[in-house]
Formats: sequence, C-alpha cells, structure tokens
Amino acid sequence: MTTDPSTRRSVVVLGAGGTLGAALAARFAGEPATDVVLADLSDAALAATVAGLPAERGAVETCTVDVADEAQVQAVVDRAVERFGRLDVLISNAGILSPNGRIHNLSTDDWERSFRVNVLGAVNGIKAAVGVMRPQHAGSIILTASVSGLTAWSHAAPYCATKAAVIQLAKVAAVEYARDGIRVNCVCPGTFRSGIHDGLPGSALDAIADKHPLGLGAAADLVGAYSYLASDAARWTTGSAIVVDGGYAAP
Ligand SMILES: NC(=O)c1ccc[n+]([C@@H]2O[C@H](COP(=O)([O-])OP(=O)(O)OC[C@H]3O[C@@H](n4cnc5c(N)ncnc54)[C@H](O)[C@@H]3O)[C@@H](O)[C@H]2O)c1
Repeated sequence: MTTDPSTRRSVVVLGAGGTLGAALAARFAGEPATDVVLADLSDAALAATVAGLPAERGAVETCTVDVADEAQVQAVVDRAVERFGRLDVLISNAGILSPNGRIHNLSTDDWERSFRVNVLGAVNGIKAAVGVMRPQHAGSIILTASVSGLTAWSHAAPYCATKAAVIQLAKVAAVEYARDGIRVNCVCPGTFRSGIHDGLPGSALDAIADKHPLGLGAAADLVGAYSYLASDAARWTTGSAIVVDGGYAAP
C-alpha cells in the first residue's frame, strides 16, 4: 500500500450500510490507493459493510450519520479531511422508499421524511463536500437518484418526486461548481434487490421485475457507473444522469 498522500484519494460514502452502499464501499476500499470514510444511520449495517470489505484495502473510517442533519454530514467530511487530508469523491447514497399509497393517502410526515432523507441528505452532502473541494479545485460528487425520478410509479409519489429532485440537484450543482473544478453527476438505478424492499411482498417485486427487460439487477451491476464517475476518465462528464436500469426506462 502506497503511503505518499499525493498519490492517494479519499472517498466518502453516505448510506454505506445498505446493499448498494456495501458494494460501493467494497469497490472503492479495494482500490490500493483509495481510503474511505463509510457513514450510515445504522451502526449494525455499517459493521456488516466493513465485515464484507476485501482484506487488501486502503484505510477505512466509519461514522454514524443522519444525512438529514447538516452538522452530522459536515462531521463526516471533517473526519475525512482530518484523517486523509483531502476529499476527492463524495457519494450521496442514503435513501428511503416512501410508504405505499396514492397521493391523497400520504401524510405531510410521509412527504417530509422522504424530502429530508432523499433531497436534504443530498444537499447536505454537496454543501459539506464543496467546502473542501473548492479550495482543492478538484472533486467528484455522485448522487444516487433512481429511474423513478424519470418515470412515474403509482403509489410512490414522494419517492419519485424526491428522486426527480436529486437529478435536478445534480444538474444545478454541476453548473454552479464546474468552474471550481468539481463535477456533479447522478446515477439512476433500476430495481436491484436490496434491503430497501424489505417491507414489500415478493409478488410486488416479481411484478417490478417483469417491467425490466433484463430482469432485476444486483448492486454489483451499479458499481461500474460510480467507478467511472469517480475517475479521471469522466473528467468531461458533469450534470449527467447515468441510467443503469436493465432497460426499464427504454420502452
Ligand atoms: N434497490 C433499488 O431497487 C434502488 C433503485 C433505485 C435507487 N435506489 C437507491 O439506492 C440507494 C441505496 O439503496 P439500497 O437499495 O442499497 O437500499 P438499502 O436500504 O439497502 O440502503 C439504504 C441505506 O441508507 C441508510 N439510510 C437511510 N436513512 C438514512 C439517513 N437518514 N442517514 C444515513 N443513512 C440512512 C440505511 O440505513 C441503509 O443502510 C438509495 O438512495 C435508494 O433510493 C435503490
């Protein structure tokens, strides 16, 4: 493992305890010159993610965070800077499904919860990251959106609306920070098996699978898009919403 700080990069993953977060953590931590800060609301989920990391890896820090809380997100980024001296990539990946219901049956609390985690969480990630990346004049911010931000899902209006907001947030942030050397993009996954579906009946997941020409995905099918956006190969890519959805949005 190289120890020259000028040749290393540091990556923060918010929402690292979930299915996709664990796959992203394993990909980035497994790169020999990459150090990671893994953060999640759930300490148990974070511990499971760390247990699944490859043996050959860079340094790993973990933090408990509620992404809806600006100060807590700032503390995660502060940890990355204290430990690794810089922040090269921030991945805003925490997200929650909204309760199943038509718009008139969903409460203000349902809407606020979705917006606080899915949208404000991403905003807090961007704010904390640009505080470090602007002085560096370099950085890549990647937001996890969803094809539900591009297509209409009945009974999931808060989820769809918040993911559409994330896509637009990435575009505006890309324009605002391009001259600061910061790229901002999002990934729009189709449905892949994960803990987010724990409350859904199997039949519902089967019906969703039928709408994906390539069937349901797995978290491993998504990591390549993040890896690309985090890399120098994507140096001319900003404001993009990369759809990785098994063909869901194609028809
Ligand atoms: N699974 C899918 O089919 C799918 C499709 C499109 C987009 N996504 C998005 O992918 C991302 C990852 O989801 P996943 O499918 O791996 O689900 P998951 O439930 O396995 O992971 C989500 C993680 O976010 C964490 N989290 C929730 N609220 C948080 C908060 N307030 N602060 C910090 N962490 C919090 C959870 O503890 C969990 O570890 C989410 O943004 C989700 O919306 C998932």
